[in-house]
Amino acid sequence: MEYENKHILAPMVRVGTLPFRLLAAEYGANITYGEEIIDHKILKCERRVNDYLGTTDFVERGTGDVVFRTCHEERNRLVFQMGSSDAVRALAAAELVSKDVAAIDINMGCPRSFSISGGMGAALLSKPELVHDILTTLRRNLNSAVTCKIRLLNSSQDTVELSRRIEMSGVSALAVHGRRVKDRPRDPAKWSEIADVVSALSIPVIANGDVFDYEHFERIKIATGATAVMVARGALWNASIFRAEGKLSWEDVKREYLRKCILWDNGVKSTKQTLKEMIMHYSCLELAEGKVVTKSQTIADLANIYGEEGYYQFVTKNR
Ligand code: FNR
Repeated sequence: MEYENKHILAPMVRVGTLPFRLLAAEYGANITYGEEIIDHKILKCERRVNDYLGTTDFVERGTGDVVFRTCHEERNRLVFQMGSSDAVRALAAAELVSKDVAAIDINMGCPRSFSISGGMGAALLSKPELVHDILTTLRRNLNSAVTCKIRLLNSSQDTVELSRRIEMSGVSALAVHGRRVKDRPRDPAKWSEIADVVSALSIPVIANGDVFDYEHFERIKIATGATAVMVARGALWNASIFRAEGKLSWEDVKREYLRKCILWDNGVKSTKQTLKEMIMHYSCLELAEGKVVTKSQTIADLANIYGEEGYYQFVTKNR
């Protein structure tokens, strides 16, 4: 993986499935992270080649649910993000997917109680020994790149100290979300504390937080000195943020997202959630569009709402 000057789609639960990643890449994202998947979950899956779609699917035994879907086109820019609290389990999970992705990333920033209570996500920020154990185990046993994504600790000094330990474990890059665990998404990201990490490390640092327009990629890069920039909400609200020529209309991007969900047979839960997040940003779920999307139960329902029933029928008939 090359990180110099790269624009990166951040990991986003429910959002970062195959259609959204392909959409972001089409608009210019150089590296795309998948949504965080917990090691336990991927370990319940078997790898299946899906000839109908041209994808590789990781399908949960018993339920038949597709937990992770990818395709060859994204192989060299795809980062599989995992939630884990155990080196042996993380390695077993990573080995399942590693030949289909470019890098394995460990989430060390998730503040949700589900993650923290399982010893994952932000819980790892206060366990440097375990962090070292997980990362060195992955590094020694995988051919793919290994990275991790952290949040800021209580002081810049603590963040730098942890970052140095992470660097020593041999990771290829470190993504830093410029907020502390207790910060809310609306609190401004502390770019100056990301800069402190950049100054202390020699591996590529990926700066993350508050990129909402194409110009912000350069702004955060200059402010932090980071090698690459990662964007989450700015891309969720309009994935064409990655276009150097400027954003496309939200309506067009939303429709293109839905068409990709139809084409790649995306799960309805993830498709609905992503559309709802977009609607909540630009409009309101209580208005007509929000209400019908909330009520929809299938991808066919969503196709009808957005006048894509013809495309839906064409795709499903020819599959
Ligand atoms: C996230 N974030 C996140 N982070 C992570 O490491 N793994 C994940 O699965 C998720 N999931 C997720 C879902 C959604 C809907 C949002 C909005 C965010 C955090 C995200 O990657 C990023 O670090 C923060 O949102 C800060 O970046 P922005 O939004 O300021 O660009």
